[in-house]
Amino acid sequence: MGHYPTGVAVVTGTSPDGEPIGMVVGTFTAVSLDPPIVAFMPTTTSGTYGLMKDSPAYCINVLAHDQLDLCRLMAAPRPGKFDDVAWSPSAYGAPALEDAVAHIHCRSQDVVTAGDHFIVLCDVLAMEVSRPATPLLFFQGGYGGFSSRGMSAKGDGELIEAVRLADLARPEAGRVARSLGCEVAVLAAANDHELTTAASAYGDNAHALEPLGVRVPLMPPLGEAYVAWCDDAAVEAWLGRTSSRDPEVVDKYRRRLAHVRESGFALSRQTEQMQPRYTDLQDAMREYAAGDLTPARERAVRAVIAESSAFFETIDIVDGETYDLGAIVVPVLGPEGRVALCLRASQLPAGADAPTVRGWISALQRAAAAVSEGISRDGWDDYAAYQQSIPGNFMM
Ligand SMILES: Cc1cc2nc3c(=O)[nH]c(=O)nc-3n(C[C@H](O)[C@H](O)[C@H](O)COP(=O)(O)O)c2cc1C
Repeated sequence: MGHYPTGVAVVTGTSPDGEPIGMVVGTFTAVSLDPPIVAFMPTTTSGTYGLMKDSPAYCINVLAHDQLDLCRLMAAPRPGKFDDVAWSPSAYGAPALEDAVAHIHCRSQDVVTAGDHFIVLCDVLAMEVSRPATPLLFFQGGYGGFSSRGMSAKGDGELIEAVRLADLARPEAGRVARSLGCEVAVLAAANDHELTTAASAYGDNAHALEPLGVRVPLMPPLGEAYVAWCDDAAVEAWLGRTSSRDPEVVDKYRRRLAHVRESGFALSRQTEQMQPRYTDLQDAMREYAAGDLTPARERAVRAVIAESSAFFETIDIVDGETYDLGAIVVPVLGPEGRVALCLRASQLPAGADAPTVRGWISALQRAAAAVSEGISRDGWDDYAAYQQSIPGNFMM
């Protein structure tokens, strides 16, 4: 049974003398959806359950990954455990533990004896998700947390080759950041579905906003300036990561890639009125970069990213107009013409006229061409090592 993982919950109630009481269970489970019934299984010898069984209500507290100390405390057979714990009485009278992921308020309706355990069946009275954090898990006698394989962060050790290649771009990135007074990030592939900031440089008017090693999912509309120069399989994989199943939306992204490839750069817009949604996107990206997403949060983050396509509408540079740009991204091509890195200029002044924007784009493209030349001249080994370091690399 040790090979089967469980969640960890604390069942709380009140003792006959009205004191808060509780025990840790790995046997909490959902039983029926309609009507909602849950169960847990205390041993028939449990002193705590003996004192708790006539409680008018129970509160099932689903523990979060960072509540191991609380779990240890609550598993102790000693009384008075609640003196050292933050809790408050629920509307039904049972203690609700602070910072638990969820609270399920229920009432015992039937107790079945099964060998040396009871199966305590409870009617659900109410429930709430109090903190959408990842839960604490118990497996083979040890504790751990949940990690979504799709989006979990990888160790930074994996990025050594990317950082080494990005080092070759650093002098050019610095030069162009100083001449435009903006931020220039060198983006490299962390793997086949994420880009990372592998180096960055700042001009006079820019602040250090984005820490190195931050990851961006290659998911429409993000990463188009990179994917536009990848092969068909990578393009299809990128399109397949959009949460939209609408063929028109997918088609729009395909046209965007073609446009980016044709023009040689990608622009995104960032106007005042877009600011609230831009803040949502930044929050989602920050949450993504921090890793440790529950599947529900991962879906929410994906939805915010999918909704951000408004920032990435095709922009034509027309004389007489002014532009509030979020970023300009250009590819740095490797020795055999495939995309190796991207240079992204951001924190550009708002209200720029068309000649200014064209000037920025050419400056960034000249920098990218110089980096390309540098890689072809002195960086073959670093480039080859970087390509090999990308797990699941679709470019080789
Ligand atoms: C991860 C974990 C899971 C547990 N699951 C159960 C359980 O499902 N049923 C049970 O009776 N005790 C379980 N226990 C033990 C009780 O939490 C606790 O140690 C016990 O209730 C205290 O002893 P007492 O009930 O005799 O006072 C578990 C303990 C841990 C640490």
